[in-house]
This record gives sequence, structure tokens and C-alpha cells, in this order.
Amino acid sequence: MEWKTEYATGIHNIDQQHRKILEFLTQFEGLCAGSADPVDVHRLIARTRAFMEIHFCTEEALMLLVPHTDSAVHRAEHRYVLENLADLEDQSRLEVGKDELLPLMRHLLFDHVLGSDRYFARRALANWGEFTSR
Ligand SMILES: [Fe+2]
Ligand SMILES: [Fe+2]
Repeated sequence: MEWKTEYATGIHNIDQQHRKILEFLTQFEGLCAGSADPVDVHRLIARTRAFMEIHFCTEEALMLLVPHTDSAVHRAEHRYVLENLADLEDQSRLEVGKDELLPLMRHLLFDHVLGSDRYFARRALANWGEFTSR
């Protein structure tokens, strides 16, 4: 999956992390195009989940710093993604077919970027002046 300028939030560190998420998706595409060894899938899900925990902490720290950007709904979406990734990481869930896995990973990892993250970034950038003038 290629990065497109329309994916950008305008917040550099967040965009760098979102590019990394796309790299994970590209790795899932590669695995699902082949035989999708369950051990490799499990390892990639585990690495992805670990990165997403860091990424969500970054966003949630920014929410605390910039006025009017905290959102219980946004943070709940983060929890939803992490819970789903943790379930998938469980060996018993690796029975999920590779035709099913790729759309699910795209949904979990990137729909949130295109929706809630870009909305959050617009609000953060709009309120940045208030933050920096304190
Ligand atoms: Fe994000
Ligand atoms: Fe987010």
C-alpha cells in the first residue's frame, strides 16, 4: 500500500508513524499474497500491535497537550484496535483466512487514520496557536 499525500495529517511525527503503519500493511499484503505461514503472520501481528501501542500513546499524549483535542471516542477506537490485534495474536484466532486477514488489517490499521486521526489533527492544528501562546 503506497503513501498518498491525502493521507497526511500535517503533524510530522504522526505522519511518520502512519507511514510506518503502511509499511506493516505492505508486509501483510506480501504475506497474504503467498502461502501465509501462520507463524510469520503471528509474528507480524505481534510486531504491529507493539508499534500501534506506541503510536496510540503518541497521539493520546498530544491530546493531553493541545487544548480541545481530547476525545473519548477517539481513545475508545484505539482500544478497539488494540483489543482486536490482541485477539488476532492469539494462536486460536490465526485460523482467520488470508482473504479475510488483509481487509481486516486495512480496516483496523488505516480506516482510523483516514477518519478520526485526520479530524483530530485538524482540531490540533487549529488549536496550536492557543497552545503555543500560553
Ligand atoms: Fe494514528
Ligand atoms: Fe488515533
